[in-house]
Amino acid sequence: VTAEAQPRGIVELDHAGLPMDVDRGRAWEIVRKAGPVVRIGEGLPLITRREDVVEALRDSELFSSKEAFEVLGSPLPLVPIAFDPPEHTRYRKVLQPFFSPRALSRMMPSLQSQALALIDELAERGSCDAVADLAVPYPSQVFLTLFGLPLDDRERLLAWKDAVIDLAMEPSSPDSDLTAAMELFGYVNEFVGARRQSPRDDLLSDLLHAEDGLNDQEAVGLSFLFVLAGLDTVTAAIGFALWKLAVNPELRARLRGDGEKIGEFIEEMIRLEPPVPYVPRVVTRDHEFGGVTVPAGTLVHLCLGSANREDAEGVLPLEPQLDGETRRHWGFGGGAHRCLGSHLARMELRLVLTNWLAKIPDFELAQGFDPRMPYPANTFQFFSLPLVYPPR
Ligand code: HEM
Repeated sequence: VTAEAQPRGIVELDHAGLPMDVDRGRAWEIVRKAGPVVRIGEGLPLITRREDVVEALRDSELFSSKEAFEVLGSPLPLVPIAFDPPEHTRYRKVLQPFFSPRALSRMMPSLQSQALALIDELAERGSCDAVADLAVPYPSQVFLTLFGLPLDDRERLLAWKDAVIDLAMEPSSPDSDLTAAMELFGYVNEFVGARRQSPRDDLLSDLLHAEDGLNDQEAVGLSFLFVLAGLDTVTAAIGFALWKLAVNPELRARLRGDGEKIGEFIEEMIRLEPPVPYVPRVVTRDHEFGGVTVPAGTLVHLCLGSANREDAEGVLPLEPQLDGETRRHWGFGGGAHRCLGSHLARMELRLVLTNWLAKIPDFELAQGFDPRMPYPANTFQFFSLPLVYPPR
């Protein structure tokens, strides 16, 4: 692998030659410079250049999500991601209002006190695994809270989540073990039935009882996608943010007590370390990317990771910038399928980082811990982040 390679046609790279585990900035640079269409190992053809990725995200007709999920063959009905407009548009119209900052603000007090309770307990200990003890449990508590489900079900939900993600990533086969999916289905279905009968003050009740709201099946489908799309992604983003802060005392000092800077830091981290590094689409007509023709029917990955690292003027800074400038990124995707949960994700990250810096102002990586990100992977994330700090 060389950064200078400018071949014509699809370029093949080896996973082993990319420093993706330790330095995503350099790895994406190598990928981008290798060519407009790159295949890493056995992966799908990766569309690497920002202008191509942005064009593809905006054109759902030429770049179909529905066909992509058909090829991937997930046995689960993934509402709304596995649909194209116009079907997709109807789902988004129903869902969007419930995920707006205003709608979510109603949950804020509860989500704040839960973040505080988890972090308070960690602050007393003097050390923790920020992934296992915070970044994993918090997003699932958020899901349970939003849907008005008992927090005691957290561990069950987490076990189902892992099994359902494995299932969604694999093409379906007669051997697929659907036990966890069926259990999660039964669990959610029961609550959907209960809230249909007697609504409460939660998102699930609102979705079911809104004018033109979701039917029972759609509500169950959305719960599945929430579990698939809204838990590991936030876990990953919390992990990257706390890692970056653990190794950078100056950054911590700048963020402490400064809500505006925390907001900027969150955007920069999603730009630099997007938990979803690429998204699948099927190219529906022959299409040329910088001289490389991709034939109709090809399943490709649009590379958000590389697209986020450049703008029209060139390569963007490799470290988070807190200069008040907005650096456009596609970490939440773009176009019709732009992340439905982006406001919720930002809210979760803000609550975690604000409470963390207030309770644990200084912290570092545990001695001997090597922050290597497991790679290859579909979601980029640390599975463990041992931190140490003076106990309170
Ligand atoms: C930092 C956290 C998150 C990241 C980085 C992220 C990233 C993304 C990306 C890149 C897409 C576009 C997929 C595509 O174009 O194929 C997406 C879609 C989606 N995300 Fe997120 N996401 C996050 C959090 C969440 C949360 C908390 C939820 C909870 C509701 C959520 C729900 C969804 C849904 C439902 C879609 C599909 C939207 C559609 O197809 O119209 N995400 N997300």
